[in-house]
Amino acid sequence: MRAIEIRNKYLNFFKAHGHSIIPSAPLIPENDPSVLFTTAGMQPLVPYLLGEHHPSGKRLTDYQKCLRTNDIDEVGDNRHLTYFEMLGNWSLGDYFKEESIKMSFEFLTKELGIPVEKLSVTVFAGDEDCPRDEVAASCWKKAGILDGHIYYYGKDDNWWIAGETGPCGPDTEMFYDTGKPACSPNCQPSCDCGKYVEIWNNVFMEYYKDEKGYSKLKQQNVDTGLGLERMAMLLQGKETPFDTEIFKPIMDKLVELEKVDLIESRRIIAEHLRSSMMIISDGGRPSNLDRGYVLRRLIRRMIRHMNKLQINLDEISTLIDLNVDTLKGMYPELEKNREIIKSVIIEEKNKFVRTLANGEKEFNKEVNKLKNAGKNIIDGKMLFRLYDTYGFPPEVTKDLAIECGMEVSMDEFDKLFKEHQEKSRAGATQKFKGGLASTGEMETKYHTATHLLNAALKQVLGAHVHQRGSNITAERMRFDFSHDSKMTDEEKKQTEDLVNKWIQDAIPVERLEMKKEEAVKMGAEAMFIEKYGDIVTVYKIGDISIELCGGPHVSNTKELGHFKIKKEESSSSGVRRIKAILE
Ligand code: SER
Repeated sequence: MRAIEIRNKYLNFFKAHGHSIIPSAPLIPENDPSVLFTTAGMQPLVPYLLGEHHPSGKRLTDYQKCLRTNDIDEVGDNRHLTYFEMLGNWSLGDYFKEESIKMSFEFLTKELGIPVEKLSVTVFAGDEDCPRDEVAASCWKKAGILDGHIYYYGKDDNWWIAGETGPCGPDTEMFYDTGKPACSPNCQPSCDCGKYVEIWNNVFMEYYKDEKGYSKLKQQNVDTGLGLERMAMLLQGKETPFDTEIFKPIMDKLVELEKVDLIESRRIIAEHLRSSMMIISDGGRPSNLDRGYVLRRLIRRMIRHMNKLQINLDEISTLIDLNVDTLKGMYPELEKNREIIKSVIIEEKNKFVRTLANGEKEFNKEVNKLKNAGKNIIDGKMLFRLYDTYGFPPEVTKDLAIECGMEVSMDEFDKLFKEHQEKSRAGATQKFKGGLASTGEMETKYHTATHLLNAALKQVLGAHVHQRGSNITAERMRFDFSHDSKMTDEEKKQTEDLVNKWIQDAIPVERLEMKKEEAVKMGAEAMFIEKYGDIVTVYKIGDISIELCGGPHVSNTKELGHFKIKKEESSSSGVRRIKAILE
């Protein structure tokens, strides 16, 4: 069964069981600057898990584009991926353990046709925070899981929380027996010898964890996640996701293009290319900070491995075209963004090629020095210098180091890198503040107009629009935002009309104070979340806009007069600039 068929079966199955199909949120969280990328299907749903009403109801299902970077160094082996797709279904205070387990069992055995002998499940063993999950175990027995196929584990295995605090609870995981021989008489689902592969995780999310400990949520939720690539691999009887139709065309093409045969490099190229394309398509651009830095690392590492296989770097364009064609059935946005993806990756490649030559020379010089001194560790300072001066991502240095038998001290690099990021952020904050420095009556009006413009652009151009900068004088406003193409006259007019409509609607502008986490949960937009303290001011304009912001603002949109866009132009790569006035 191909991945897209699995996805469709999943969504249709849960639809038939009363769930609304909701769209995947973008890979770059829309209004949540506290995380870099969407890492699980539940992430965009946190407010609803906490009790807010979801417009599509209490039973939801979707496929969610996810990116996890903690295992980036493992990519190249036979299973790790950075980008993956998570199929999920949710009960927001509706059904709980019994129905959730019954549906999972039915989906796996009837819809996907997995023989029951191949399934094992794990449930929470219980501790001082939460009792042993006999309920889940008995639901599994009732559903049809075989005797001896239910295992009890503690918090390490059967408890799920995203990060340190938030909604959480005991989970039950489903495992697929690949049929490989057991590694020992004790071989169980928790063993990672490869016999058992985790395929689905149902979290019974009824707790909330904060610094003080656990409390009960208002409602009992279910949050499930099924990794699509892995399921496709198992159902197709393949050893790795790279052997499925998702990666096969690009893997084959790489074999055709390469002069050196290294399977790990081929996998890294295929994997990082797909992830980079997905990030760019959802509005990400390479930079030296946060999200942009992850993208930069992915692209640069891919290029480094193309060099390793001695593939002509001009072939990147062919590889992108091939991947768009392979994946556009699953992600139509790739087709739409084909040219942007190409130009962003090629531009980053060109930058990297320019620095690579210098960096490698420097690297070799330093390594020779170290070797002559009888040392075999490259310290963090040198890693950082290669990064800072030569644009060398530490992974690349690490790869090079391993090739010449050296070790690297990542901890020290991480420390220096953090300091560097903090400095860059402080600089950016200064700039941001500068943009709002003086606030007379006109500036205050422009400031409110900025929030309306931000909201209007999102409606007209799409959710990828985020503020990238702002500058206000008494005479005009300037607003920079993420978007790739020139706005059409029609788009400009629609944007103007929307802003003017909101002005005419005479909407009150509310100033609220709340905890930063609450604001993030409410979906408040913020350009630099780090610049704010624990308690933040949020400006809310009806249902139109909610932003973390220091103000000041007018008290009603009707005070703004008439809004007019004077100019729309490029500001930098992937960023557009609007100059507008109030008349
Ligand atoms: N949130 C859980 C996970 O990521 C289930 O979706 O595994």
